[in-house]
Amino acid sequence: MSGLIAPHGGKLVNCLVDEVRAGALRKQAAGMARIDLTAKQSCDLELIANGGYSPLTGFMNRADFESVCKGMKLTTGEVWSIPVLLAVAKGTAPAVGSHVALYAPNGVLQGVMTVKEEFAHDKALECKSVFRTDDPAHPGAAQVLAEGDVCISGPVEVLTLCVDPTGDEAFLDRRLTPAQTRAGFQAKGWQTVVAFQTRNPIHRAHEYVIKCAQEITDGLLIHPLVGETKKGDIRADVRMKAIDALVAKYFNPATTMVTVLPAAMRYAGPREAVHHAVMRKNYGCSHFIVGRDHAGVGNYYGTYDAQKIFDEIDGAALGIEPLKFEHTGYSKSYGGMVSGKTFPKIEGDIINLSGTAVRDLLFKGERPPVEFSRPEVADVLIAAAKDGKLFV
Ligand code: ADX
Repeated sequence: MSGLIAPHGGKLVNCLVDEVRAGALRKQAAGMARIDLTAKQSCDLELIANGGYSPLTGFMNRADFESVCKGMKLTTGEVWSIPVLLAVAKGTAPAVGSHVALYAPNGVLQGVMTVKEEFAHDKALECKSVFRTDDPAHPGAAQVLAEGDVCISGPVEVLTLCVDPTGDEAFLDRRLTPAQTRAGFQAKGWQTVVAFQTRNPIHRAHEYVIKCAQEITDGLLIHPLVGETKKGDIRADVRMKAIDALVAKYFNPATTMVTVLPAAMRYAGPREAVHHAVMRKNYGCSHFIVGRDHAGVGNYYGTYDAQKIFDEIDGAALGIEPLKFEHTGYSKSYGGMVSGKTFPKIEGDIINLSGTAVRDLLFKGERPPVEFSRPEVADVLIAAAKDGKLFV
C-alpha cells in the first residue's frame, strides 16, 4: 500500500464554514425555524461536518434511509449500516426549501440545514433492520421509538465542531478531525493503522487484542467513543484518565496515538461494528478491531454476530479490514492471556469478572485482580467511584 487508505467515497467531506460565513449564518438564524437537536443528532452533525461520516453531506433522505436499512448501502453504492436521520415531531417540520437553525442540546447554534425533503420516520423498519429488535428495553431502539415521526433531510453548514469546548468531555487536544488525524499518521510515517473502538476503560482482555493487532500494523489509534452513551456506562472523562494512565506505562509512544471519536453509541451490535469501521476508515485507519459482542448490549446479539456481519459485505467496497478476535482472558493454567484459539478451554481456568462484580470491588475501594485490570487503571476508577463520578 502506498499512503493512507482513501476516505469512504473517495474524499473527505467538510461542512464546517469559515468565520465570515458563520457570522452571517448566526445573524440569519434568528429568522429561521428552530430545531433543538438531541445529543445523538448533535453528535451526528459533528461527524457529518468533520468528515467522519464521509461521503454524507447532511442528514439522510428517504431513499438513502431505506437503502441503508434494507441493503446496508447508500444509494450511491457505498457500504453504510446505520441511518443518520433528523427526526422531528409531526407538525413541526419546517417547509421544504426553507433553512432551519439547528441548536445543540446546550443551546449553541451548531448548524443550518437547507430542507430538501420531508418523509415519515419508519421506526419499525429502522428498529428491525438496525437493532434486530423493537424491544423498548433495548437502549438504541428505545431512543428511535422516542424520536419524532417525521424526518427532514438536506445539506448542512456547520458553525462550530465542538459545541461545548470547555466541557468535561470536550478533550479539545484529542478531538482531532479525520483530516487532522490523517496528518498525524503521515507525520509519524504510518501507512497501516489499526483502530481500537471502545466505550469502556481498557482492561487486560482489550489490551491483549490491541497488542496482537499492533504487531501487524505501523501504528495504533486508540479511539474511544466520547459522544452520548447510556446511563450506567462509565463517564468519558474517567475512561480517558484511565487510558492515559495505561498508555503511559504499557504502550510505546512511537507507535501509539490516543484521540477521541465524538460519536453517540447506538448499541446496535453488528450494524454498529460496520459503522464504527467506516468512521475509522475516514479517520485514516486501514484495520479495525472487532472482538466479542462488539457494541452489544444485554443479550440481543450473539457473541460473534458483529464479526459475521462483515462476511455479508464486499470487503473491497468496505476498504478497511476487520481484525476479528475471539473472547480472550487470563488463563491460570497458561499463565497469560489466551483465547479459545490459542489455548484449550479448561473449566474455571479464565479469570473473568462480570461488570457488576467489578463495580462492587471499585465501590469498596478494591482493585480487581491484576490479571483482569492493570492497577493504574483500577486506581483511576476507584478514585472516580469514591467521588461519585464513575457513571454517566
Ligand atoms: S464496545 O461497545 O466499544 O464494543 P468495549 O469497549 O467493551 O465495547 O469493547 C471494545 C472492543 O473490545 C470491541 O471490539 C469488543 O468486541 C472487544 N472486546 C471486549 N472484551 C473482549 C474480550 N474479553 N475478548 C475479546 N475482545 C473483547
